Amino acid sequence: MKLFLDTANIAEIRKGAAMGVVHGVTTNPSLVAKEGHKDYQSVVRQIAAIIPAGAPISVEVVSDTAAQMAADGKRFFKWAPENVVVKLPTSAEGLQATRELADSGIRVNMTLCFSANQALLAAHAGAAFVSPFVGRLDDIGHDGMALVKDILDIYSNYEFKTEVIAASIRHPLHCVQAARMGAHIATIPYKVLEQMLKHPLTDIGIERFLADWKTSGASNQ
Ligand code: E4P
Repeated sequence: MKLFLDTANIAEIRKGAAMGVVHGVTTNPSLVAKEGHKDYQSVVRQIAAIIPAGAPISVEVVSDTAAQMAADGKRFFKWAPENVVVKLPTSAEGLQATRELADSGIRVNMTLCFSANQALLAAHAGAAFVSPFVGRLDDIGHDGMALVKDILDIYSNYEFKTEVIAASIRHPLHCVQAARMGAHIATIPYKVLEQMLKHPLTDIGIERFLADWKTSGASNQ
């Protein structure tokens, strides 16, 4: 399972990329607003310069008609053609714009997906990625991870090429569950990446090895 960072925070993307474990980035209007960015294009270009060559960056449209969504998507695509994946909502207008963008060779990530039927429609419309929102379903008492499993099963029945991004990830256990199911990607906040890595026994072990080495008087030169 690949890992995308779900953030518009440049410092976090830099730190994640330096670890060599970030395969892409997803942004959304709320994440961009949270960072106080005023120029979306410059943010996308900065991200493209940090992450591995060709790694996908999901850039979300905020328009509400298919024609405008497709036009925005084509414009965003030019900002970083190797990286930009246009993020569109799973709505009738979004499906129509997805078909148009897919037909012109632009990858789409269908977002705000909350049902298996929506994911089926996204695949039929030619979406390269679909993003079921696990955490937001959990928040209202549904089983978000069960949706990821349903989508993976349905796509595999018909050999759809659309990749499943487990999104709205809230904690490290979501990552383990998504990976067990075979989700193609999980898009995670930077905090969850830190939580995935952290283990007290690793910290204690590092400390002990360093202390023992110091007292041993041994050389590694
Ligand atoms: C996905 O691409 C979205 O940006 C994201 O995962 C939404 O997560 P949230 O529910 O934490 O806002």
